[in-house]
Amino acid sequence: MQNEAEPPSYQQIASRLRTAIQRGDLAPGAKLPSVRHLAQIEQVSAPTAEHALRLLEAAGLVVARPRSGFYVAAGKLAEPQPALPRAMARPVTLTASVHQLFARVRSPDLVALGAASPCAEWLPEKALARSLLSASRRLGPSALAYSVPPGRLDLRSQIARRAARWGLHLSPDQLIVTHGQSQAMRLALQVTCQRGDVVAIESPCYFGTLMLMRSLGLRAIAVPTHPRSGMDLAALERILRTHPVSAVVAVPTANNPLGFTMPVAGKRRLVELLDDAGVPLIEDDVYGDLSAGKPRAPACKAFDESGNVLYCTSVSKTMAPGWRIGWIAPGHRFDAVLEARVEASLAGTPLLEAALAEMFASGDYDRHLRRYGQRIKDSVRTISARIAATWPEGTRLRCPDDGFLLWVELPACVDALSLYEAAGSEGISISPGVMFCPEGHSYGHHVRINCAQPTTPKLLAALDRIGTLAAAQAGSRALPAVAAQAQ
Ligand SMILES: Cc1ncc(COP(=O)(O)O)c(C=O)c1O
Repeated sequence: MQNEAEPPSYQQIASRLRTAIQRGDLAPGAKLPSVRHLAQIEQVSAPTAEHALRLLEAAGLVVARPRSGFYVAAGKLAEPQPALPRAMARPVTLTASVHQLFARVRSPDLVALGAASPCAEWLPEKALARSLLSASRRLGPSALAYSVPPGRLDLRSQIARRAARWGLHLSPDQLIVTHGQSQAMRLALQVTCQRGDVVAIESPCYFGTLMLMRSLGLRAIAVPTHPRSGMDLAALERILRTHPVSAVVAVPTANNPLGFTMPVAGKRRLVELLDDAGVPLIEDDVYGDLSAGKPRAPACKAFDESGNVLYCTSVSKTMAPGWRIGWIAPGHRFDAVLEARVEASLAGTPLLEAALAEMFASGDYDRHLRRYGQRIKDSVRTISARIAATWPEGTRLRCPDDGFLLWVELPACVDALSLYEAAGSEGISISPGVMFCPEGHSYGHHVRINCAQPTTPKLLAALDRIGTLAAAQAGSRALPAVAAQAQ
């Protein structure tokens, strides 16, 4: 007998399935039990079981395939639309939120969906401690001395050995160890540009590069960038013909914020195009090692025969952001970069450099990457499914090819900056889209979400809350109507 106060059985069944989908227990694309099987499991009639599945179908959470059954809706959301920024060189102005975001990241109670930082508990703390101890014993008192640029040879040799595995053949003499990727990028910009020069960048693009450009007094020209294929090379070619571009900056692998990995043909073409134009390519490959379960994507630098690519990366996104170790392979600008590196901060930290060399040599880094990559994949899937199920209608999202960032386009009437403020006052950080463009007011209804963390109930509740806040702005309900009814 049905209890009067209880919702009907079909709604209860739909609610349980909906929870499993939102938690990621039933992944996008997974097959649901057949009507007959579901009826048996739930001990209801077949029409009741079918009614539950149809409710979920009407909510867009599952799709019915003729003669096959019901499946969890995969990629229910359309992908974000490519932007068409005006081809205009402009000074980098940014918004205050860039600095506020950094301030918020420091709060321990925060649900940190904003910063592109891996959560500390996913980093290989024990292996790092072991490598530090062993490096300290090996180096003795010299661990306390300066590591003179270009940096320790054991580290540079390990970096070169690893890069050769995915097709980038460098000698240790072509590498300079830096203070994170940010210093590598700063040096690259410094040796290729002068104050007032124009740099072509992806649109949207990583705000750290914009901050560097602002501090160096550079102007930016935004190149239309497709969420799947990356920088639009035809548009870039037009820009190169019509503007005096001094350098091009790109994040072609696991792009921040769009998540694409540019196809190899595109990477080759980008290298050729810039080589022919005599314009240096500054490649940011900081997420390049995050290709879990697939062969690592080659960087553009692997196709650079003339030395025109300045390749910059670090271990900040994979292993130890606080160690601040990165490197640059500056091609034929090696001497200029080395000089600038010495001028920037004289020397590096030998203990950390030696410990990182040990992490690479022992295989600990690779072991960590495999586990970490799988965790990222699972989180990305769960968070994408949650957003697809609970954010307002009209939300667009594409799962990243690689890396851990989701770029989400909300309905056009949502103001992501006020969403950021409202979420911030409830202890949740998100990165509003306006941070990802030089003038600070494009991408007003976009947000970037960091998935490099466990999908705890607190995190999922925070995602739902953002969905509800966005829906309130959009004047729609956060949960798809029928699914909400089934709760
Ligand atoms: C694309 C990109 N490049 C560089 C960095 C910064 O790297 P690092 O911490 O090594 O300076 C980040 C950090 O968010 C990033 O997303």
